[in-house]
Amino acid sequence: MIAAMIPTATLSPPRAADLLAWYDRHARRLPWRTAPAERRTGVKPDPYRVWLSEIMLQQTNVTTVKPYFEAFLGQWPTVADLAAASTEDVMKAWAGLGYYSRARNLKACADTVVRDHGGRFPETSAGLRELPGIGAYTSAAIAAIAHDEPAAVVDGNVERVLSRVFAVETTLPAAKKEIAALQAQLTPQARAGDYAQAMMDLGATICSPKRPACSLCPWEMACVAHANGTEELHPRKAAKTDRPERAGAAFVAIRSDGAILLRKRPERGLLGGMTEVPGSEWIQGAKTAHGTEAAPLAADWQRVAAPVIHVFTHFRLTLDVWHARLPDAHPAPGDSWWASAIDLPHEALPSVMKKAIEAAVPGATRKRK
Ligand code: ADE
Repeated sequence: MIAAMIPTATLSPPRAADLLAWYDRHARRLPWRTAPAERRTGVKPDPYRVWLSEIMLQQTNVTTVKPYFEAFLGQWPTVADLAAASTEDVMKAWAGLGYYSRARNLKACADTVVRDHGGRFPETSAGLRELPGIGAYTSAAIAAIAHDEPAAVVDGNVERVLSRVFAVETTLPAAKKEIAALQAQLTPQARAGDYAQAMMDLGATICSPKRPACSLCPWEMACVAHANGTEELHPRKAAKTDRPERAGAAFVAIRSDGAILLRKRPERGLLGGMTEVPGSEWIQGAKTAHGTEAAPLAADWQRVAAPVIHVFTHFRLTLDVWHARLPDAHPAPGDSWWASAIDLPHEALPSVMKKAIEAAVPGATRKRK
């Protein structure tokens, strides 16, 4: 194998200019993006749109984010509008995007920008970093994209691209520092925002995890992993540990008029403040079967044949779904409420709860046109 390797001395170093020239021709059109041609005519990106998109894109892909981004902008066109909204409405609009602390921080950040900064986002990565929900990646990305600050932007795409271009042998996550240093060296003083977005596009469209399209890559002749034929072996990853299991039961009580019984989760903790159907605790280490001990009311509970499986970052959940029919007049116990068939799709239901309801009542959570 070693004998077949191309000596790296024949490679040309990766240049930001080559990536930018590629981006000028192939930049994806994205609803939050100011295209490179527009930027050249002096159009400045709106920091609110940049911030909103970056928060939404954390842990989520472009296809999923697009409709949420459009809906948020339609409902709250400015940061002041978002600050004036209720947290409940923001959570409802966020439902389905996951990682709900992001939505709470989004609202807290909008409030802070309006209260402490006169409705204008800070313009530097250091200033942005002070705001709720904005960490190292997001502050660098917003400052670069909105203000062309030459901040080193490193997300998963960038890690993949640079670990290949430089054939980084250190495994992730330990390699993060090394990759950030490489990105800091490569980031140009001019057009830092386009450069950051070009890296994201390259990672998303060319330098894909499987079967990268190297012949289309502007850094083909700079890439050490490509020269060695080892693209798919980078980034190197530490051996995976198995995701722990949890199991629980969810109870979908359906009134004869189609209303479904819901309650609110505690503010703190996983899916905090989101809406759910009543259910049991999720027991750590369990893989199966719960009875109806935690049912919210006495009824003829029937179990749906296949449990709902939902994978969270830190565990895999097996949720037994039970359903029961109840008469119209049945009161809602405790803090729960009946959500009508019309209201249900607009409740702040996280994906796992939508799945549970759909397992019992197909189509119930879909928004009607
Ligand atoms: N992923 C995260 N931020 C992004 C952006 N601004 N454009 C495209 N993909 C992204």
